[in-house]
Amino acid sequence: MTKIIAAITAVGGYVPETKLTNFDLEKMVETNDEWIRSRTGISERRILKEPGKGSSDMAVPAIEEILRKKNLDPKEIDCIICATVTPDMVFPATANIIADKIGATNAWGYDLSAACSGFLFALSSGAMYIESGRFKKVLVVGVDKMSAIVDYTDRATCIIFGDGAGAVLLEPSTDGLGIQDSILKSDGSGRHYLHMKAGGSVKPATAETVAAREHFAYQEGQAVFKFAVKGMADVSAELLERNNLTGDDIAWLVPHQANLRIIDATANRMGLAKEKVMINIQKYGNTTAATLPLCLWDWESQLNKGDKIVLAAFGGGFTWGATLLTWAY
Ligand code: UT7
Repeated sequence: MTKIIAAITAVGGYVPETKLTNFDLEKMVETNDEWIRSRTGISERRILKEPGKGSSDMAVPAIEEILRKKNLDPKEIDCIICATVTPDMVFPATANIIADKIGATNAWGYDLSAACSGFLFALSSGAMYIESGRFKKVLVVGVDKMSAIVDYTDRATCIIFGDGAGAVLLEPSTDGLGIQDSILKSDGSGRHYLHMKAGGSVKPATAETVAAREHFAYQEGQAVFKFAVKGMADVSAELLERNNLTGDDIAWLVPHQANLRIIDATANRMGLAKEKVMINIQKYGNTTAATLPLCLWDWESQLNKGDKIVLAAFGGGFTWGATLLTWAY
């Protein structure tokens, strides 16, 4: 019997039009363009400004691009997995809201919370539904409206994050092309370094939590940086090794876009030339669950059937991992 694996067969993306540049941030907090660019690689990010709009409003156009490209009826979609830490509401799941908005009336779905590794975890989860033979069309979307949880008086975090959405369609492949292998990890003891203090069941929202600015993302940047450099580089190198590959075999590295210095460390460890690394952090910043699919979206026209691609991420949780795939179209 031919083995079924899951292949990405289409990509869609969406970023809001409004740009928040380093020069805009200079007027809001004590920072400067030179510091931000040299420490992170970021020049500007996109912000979803319209009141009343949430993550689903970015996920929907990203998915509609896929439906258009593949000439798909939304009723053909079996499942939607939405990776996000900024859902439209605590419940119901944003995946359900997206399904309703696109008319995917035969789909079931759920949200997956793994911060910056969310897309990678969701991709692996979706791939298993395809590999099992149970489902034929699974949409995986990574979306975050980070501007909803960023404290624009905190220069340590507000310079990093932006808003955006990226999505892929997973379908069965029997020619060996598609998702080959993944190493996924988590370590909950890392929660102290990157989290939102209030708004969950431990510390529900009160006037005090709002006054203490505890509904914003809190990050101890230096500590996260150290774990991220090691975590992302280690797991990417391990993935190559166990598949008997070297950097020369890899066409593209798709790294989470949190900090250019973390990306460089990962690429160096894999022995990859800079030209093989997808980098769009300068224009979108860190869009959390959306960084990986937004890279695929930006580079789609340069990808060739059979290209070996490594996706790698590190984020809050801590969560991290890497996935090896061969491009299928
Ligand atoms: O995506 C999820 C996972 N997240 C990450 O991977 C993020 C990992 N962390 C980072 O990317 C970096 O730690 C940051 C970009 C957040 C910060 O960069 P850093 O090089 O670690 O800076 P730092 O926190 O060590 O601060 C260095 C200096 C400090 O000043 P002193 O003490 O040396 O005088 C800070 O007060 O830079 C100062 N600083 C700033 N200066 C201008 C901190 N933030 C800023 C700022 N503008 N925005």
